[in-house]
Parts: sequence; structure tokens; C-alpha cells
Amino acid sequence: MGDNVTPGISVELATAEDMVRAGELIGAQLAAGDVLVLTGPLGAGKTTFARGLGRALGVRGPVTSPTFVLARTHPSLVGGPELIHVDAYRLGDPAELDDLGLDLAASVTVVEWGSEAVPLITDRWLEVTIERSTALSAPAGGTERDDHDQNSDHDHDHEHDDEPVDPRRLTLTTTGVFNRPLEASLGRALRAEFGASPA
Ligand SMILES: Nc1ncnc2c1ncn2[C@@H]1O[C@H](COP(=O)(O)OP(=O)(O)OP(=O)(O)O)[C@@H](O)[C@H]1O
Ligand SMILES: [Mg+2]
Repeated sequence: MGDNVTPGISVELATAEDMVRAGELIGAQLAAGDVLVLTGPLGAGKTTFARGLGRALGVRGPVTSPTFVLARTHPSLVGGPELIHVDAYRLGDPAELDDLGLDLAASVTVVEWGSEAVPLITDRWLEVTIERSTALSAPAGGTERDDHDQNSDHDHDHEHDDEPVDPRRLTLTTTGVFNRPLEASLGRALRAEFGASPA
């Protein structure tokens, strides 16, 4: 890394549907040759985000965890680039990503757990980091949070939505030189939809 890493854009996403929407907003601005790294712990929402990319790109779905393959290719249904979805979690060695022989130039490529492997295959990429924002605001000392408190009825009025509100913080950075002011326009799109990040 080192040079050309941007300070990043950060937004808070309250629900899984917001995470899909963030993927959709970002995916709408991507083109063949773009590579994204998704970073975040198990269950953070990486695959949920990738589903939004697939929606924006109009690819054949469903976009799910590529459990039995390292990489799954979703062809475009609208004449655009395909989406290659990689799960690098089970790569024995990050260098094995190169051995897959992915056609990066013809595709939008998204790599879960790709922060070590992707710099070995390209010199410019976007990185989306997802964290549980409840963990960020939790009191020091690692106190376990009380799920009943989180989900109490007056906290949210999506009464038919039995999904708990479990917000995530998404941070987007770019590394390397892009042929267009991508981060600035992604920042505008994300802030227009989700507002400025609470500090
Ligand atoms: N605000 C939110 N953003 C994203 N996902 C959320 C949110 N709130 C709840 N969820 C739920 O969290 C889960 C995220 O799972 P997902 O498979 O996307 O994670 P992942 O990061 O890909 O995990 P893995 O590391 O196992 O691949 C989903 O069940 C989703 O519905
Ligand atoms: Mg996943």
C-alpha cells in the first residue's frame, strides 16, 4: 500500500436492506476492470453488499456466498460487465488468487477477505470495510450488549420487519490511480442516500 490511499468515506447503514442499497449505489458507478475488496468480520455483511453490486450491474443471480467454489461468475443480463464474486477466506495462500486466471479487464470483481490477495493481482482497487457500529459505540471493557434492549419495539417502527436493527459502519477507500474521480462521486451518492456519517 503506502501511496495513493484515500482517507475514505464513511456512512452508517441501519439495516441489511441499506447494505444492499449501498452496494447498488456503488455498483452503479463501476465499470469493467474495477476490483473491490470487502473487509469485515464473519457476518459483517460482505455478501449482502455484493448482492447490491449484482443488482446494479443487472447480472444473473442469486449472489450468495460462493461456498463450493472460490470464485463465481455472474453473467450480465443487460450487456454490461459480468460480476466475479470471490471468497478468498479459504485460499491457502493469497497468491493463489492469481492462479484462478480471472479476466479482470472484462469484469467487475469483488473479493471478500481480499485485502492481502488483491494487491497481488492489480495496482488499483476499492476497499469497503464493514464494522458493526454497535461495537464501535459500546462502552469500553467489552460489555456484552443486551439484545432485548436493542430490539425493543419503540426503537423502530418496521413492524413487519422482524430483522433486528443491527447497524453497520461502511468505510470506502481507494488505492491507486483511477481514470475518473470515482471516490468523489461515490461519496456524493452515499451521502445523498445515507447522510453524513455521525462522527
Ligand atoms: N445493517 C446491516 N448490514 C448488513 N447486514 C446486516 C445488517 N443488519 C443485519 N444484517 C444481517 O447480517 C448478515 C450478514 O451476512 P453476510 O453473509 O452478508 O456477511 P458476510 O460478511 O458475507 O459473512 P462471511 O464472512 O461469513 O462471508 C445477514 O444475515 C444480514 O441480513
Ligand atoms: Mg460472505
